[in-house]
Amino acid sequence: MKKLIEAAIEAREKAYCPYSNFKVGAAVLFEDGNIYTGCNIENASFGATNCAERSAIFNAVSNGCRTLKAIALIGDTNNFTYPCGICRQVISEFAEDGNVKIFMAKNKDEYLEKTLDEILPGSFTKKDLEN
Ligand code: THU
Repeated sequence: MKKLIEAAIEAREKAYCPYSNFKVGAAVLFEDGNIYTGCNIENASFGATNCAERSAIFNAVSNGCRTLKAIALIGDTNNFTYPCGICRQVISEFAEDGNVKIFMAKNKDEYLEKTLDEILPGSFTKKDLEN
């Protein structure tokens, strides 16, 4: 968990955010035991911006991973940055289950720990498409 938070802090340095100047870093642990990282990547067409959490998850999935075990993220304020709604949905797509841990860090020592079910109750998932 400490390693995940430290990786998110390091990834935040790579943020491309000339419009908001709000750097975000994320690190994910997948079933292969590896940590993958990502940062927010903005665009002049603002809607094309990719959040750090999705960058990290897409990085892992592009490397063959499918099952998310935990995620850490850190924003650029003295508050805890929670994943946005779109990122919560993307987390749920690859989450092992609703108990997947989300660590929202303020710095390497201060963090909040939530489960996916706590921050995305009543989610719509692939199970809903089965019937
Ligand atoms: N951002 C993230 O990277 N993750 C979040 O969960 C919240 C928002 C980014 C997107 C944009 O580059 C900047 O923060 C301001 O919204």
